[in-house]
Amino acid sequence: MAVNLLLGLQWGDEGKGKIVDVLTKNYDIIARFQGGPNAGHTLEFDGIKHVLHTIPSGIFHDKAINLVGNGVVIDPVIFKKELDNLDTFNLDYKSKLLISRKAHLILPTHRILDAASEASKGKAKIGSTLKGIGPTYMDKTGRNGIRVGDLELSDWKKRYRSLANKHEAMIDFYDAKIEYDLTELESEFFKAIETLKSLTFIDSEEYLYQAQREGKKILAEGAQGSLLDIDFGTYPFVTSSNTTAAGACTGLGVAPNQIKEVFGIFKAYTTRVGSGPFPTELFDTDGETMGRVGHEFGATTGRARRCGWLDLVALKYAVQVNGVTQLMMMKGDVLSGFKTLKVCTAYNYQGKTITHLPYTIEPENVTPVYTEMKGWSEDLTKMNDKSQFPAALNDYIEFLEKELETPITIVSVGPDRTQTIHR
Ligand code: GDP
Ligand code: IMO
Ligand code: MG
Repeated sequence: MAVNLLLGLQWGDEGKGKIVDVLTKNYDIIARFQGGPNAGHTLEFDGIKHVLHTIPSGIFHDKAINLVGNGVVIDPVIFKKELDNLDTFNLDYKSKLLISRKAHLILPTHRILDAASEASKGKAKIGSTLKGIGPTYMDKTGRNGIRVGDLELSDWKKRYRSLANKHEAMIDFYDAKIEYDLTELESEFFKAIETLKSLTFIDSEEYLYQAQREGKKILAEGAQGSLLDIDFGTYPFVTSSNTTAAGACTGLGVAPNQIKEVFGIFKAYTTRVGSGPFPTELFDTDGETMGRVGHEFGATTGRARRCGWLDLVALKYAVQVNGVTQLMMMKGDVLSGFKTLKVCTAYNYQGKTITHLPYTIEPENVTPVYTEMKGWSEDLTKMNDKSQFPAALNDYIEFLEKELETPITIVSVGPDRTQTIHR
């Protein structure tokens, strides 16, 4: 039996949470494979909006098991808040939420280190969500991290203390002085650890292996987007994990030859939150309209997202790196009313026109080359079948399919579960 992947192809916030929720009815297991509470995945149904950070987006369904994989970093404090929120909806999550023993823990001092590092960078800051992601993955690859499975061992608090002490010395190293009260942070942290311990910890690679043998259907849920990948993104303005398809193999222990469909999600335009290059970014009323109509504010930090036209050079690159087999286009409804739509199909790069993503896409090196397309004025949000699509939307979709050599199988026309059209 195969594993399907779902991942974001841009700079995050493509609408992964919504589509995972829509697809969950077809799966037995939904498994997050990387990232941590830097993610904010929004789901909407029955008039209620939910934002998940660490918990997989299949949690609102009755049957599916939701697994937090080994590649994820967990902040127990944020995780507890997410669980408390589920409690307010009387959701019985205990029987269907499993945590990998090999997932790493974000400690309070990781968050402080993130803040100190960012503050010391001044203008060159990454624009991190300040959730401690970078420092936690640094401790993972530096072989110092504390994992969920360690909480079952007797000496983990000793290891915690020595790591936190080291972090405090590192925090002092930075010029930027961050005020914090570790005693208070630790009291909140240890309380949250007890909540985490009330859940089921598993050897998730073994669990998933057996599930595959039993013919269970598994959907791996990505976080962030391909252009934030630590290797293939716009480094250093990236996150600290592999957000691309390969990350699902290392983040879950799933073998590459078990992966079948790779669902790539993109917005009909582009957004980015945080710093870093963004060739098609708009600083005019068109960008302002996208932001306003699309409610482009970060689900985790509330920051305004930068907006711009669709960048096919970058999107093609993401389709390639991930081996995307099906595309899903989100937020087409936000583009209703634009007379003309622009799609970037090439870059002017150092005097040449290129169609691949070069090593650096800083604005001084890259100017986008646009193809103009006719817009549509119809409101898409009430549509429920592709036969209702205006001709200009069909032209837009078909143009993208041709350029990307991949079918667009879902078109999303609003934030609600029901506003999802299969093609
Ligand atoms: P994720 O991080 O990829 O899960 O995406 P986010 O939840 O951070 O951001 C996507 C935002 O767009 C959320 O506010 C969703 O409710 C909303 N959304 C998703 N799909 C659509 C759509 O097709 N149209 C509109 N207007 N909003 C959408
Ligand atoms: P979802 O899963 C959008 C961005 C941050 C920053 C950079 C590094 O909701 O799509 P980090 O906190 O990881 O050190 O931040 O990455 N970023 C995201 N942008 N969506 C996300 O997740 C993001 N997670 C991190 O804004 O630029
Ligand atoms: Mg998000």
